[in-house]
Amino acid sequence: MYRIASIPGDGIGPEVVAGALEVLSAVSKKFGFEYTVEEHPFGGASYDLHGSMLTDETLEACRNADAVLLGAVGGPKWESLPHDKKPEAALLRIRKELGLFANLRPAKVYDALVSASTLKEEVVKGTDFMVFRELTGGIYFGQPRGYDENRGWNTMVYERYEVERIARLAFEAARKRGNAKVTSIDKANVLEVSQFWRNVVHEVHKDFPEIELVDMYVDNAAMQIVRNPKQFEVIVTGNLFGDILSDISGMITGSLGMLPSASIGSKHALYEPIHGSAPDIAGQNKANPIATIASVAMMFEHSFGKPEVARAIYDAIEQALATGVRTADIARPGELAISTTAMTAAIVACI
Ligand code: IPM
Ligand code: MN
Repeated sequence: MYRIASIPGDGIGPEVVAGALEVLSAVSKKFGFEYTVEEHPFGGASYDLHGSMLTDETLEACRNADAVLLGAVGGPKWESLPHDKKPEAALLRIRKELGLFANLRPAKVYDALVSASTLKEEVVKGTDFMVFRELTGGIYFGQPRGYDENRGWNTMVYERYEVERIARLAFEAARKRGNAKVTSIDKANVLEVSQFWRNVVHEVHKDFPEIELVDMYVDNAAMQIVRNPKQFEVIVTGNLFGDILSDISGMITGSLGMLPSASIGSKHALYEPIHGSAPDIAGQNKANPIATIASVAMMFEHSFGKPEVARAIYDAIEQALATGVRTADIARPGELAISTTAMTAAIVACI
């Protein structure tokens, strides 16, 4: 029995989460397992109800669940709130409070959608790598931080245990992928914190001698991802570099609406699409539910230890796409776009 906390949030969040839950229901019938889903307010929806984007009740419910499914947060209505009340602050808080130190973001180019990429087909076809972004440390959380009239400052700091645990997770994932190459990305030519990162990653690497480890500076990595993305298999990097590089990596696949993510800690895990709340199309049954559906697949891989269920979901997504169905974000000009609910139904039918 899996206990899932659902926090659909704002914008298209509720629509794409509804789609993902239908797929969850379909795989539960196919594979014969039971689950519960409890929904809780989060983001602007929660702010309007309780004056806080993340209430203690929602946080507690996430702590008590086996996994959390998040839609999206934020929208123009809440943009002018003070810094500490913004949806971004709630996201950072939930990550920190649940100890979600590893953020996994795949960059996978689906064959059926290869023409949707802004890069040439021969450059991107076959791209399939995973970014391991450190999520609860680095400059996002380092002290001191602040600004006054004449100065602004943040601190990029990494503790040994923080680097060790994310590096270990990345090497273990590489092992599972048939000893895939690990690229560790830093700015060790300029930043001491990066030299430290590099040293610790190499120490952890001693436990994984069969795995190739490559160090790369972050500026070069940004360039290499668009030049030749197929050279990457597993990327491990800090919070800020990972934030930036995972956007580049997602974009080259041409279909941000397709990409899921997992944020994992030692006790808790949260799954969410990479895309945002897309307020411009919210409530119109137009959003692509695939990223959220694939996030459920990641949940079965990483939280529930059921790769066969994950496989069934990924396969159903590919089969549905192969029949030619497209939501607006991935339709080519002139192609008829189908709705969120129709795409969900197409995937459920394949399951
Ligand atoms: C992301 C987002 C967040 C981040 C923001 C919204 C706080 O860009 O999940 O990548 O910077 O981590
Ligand atoms: Mn980001």
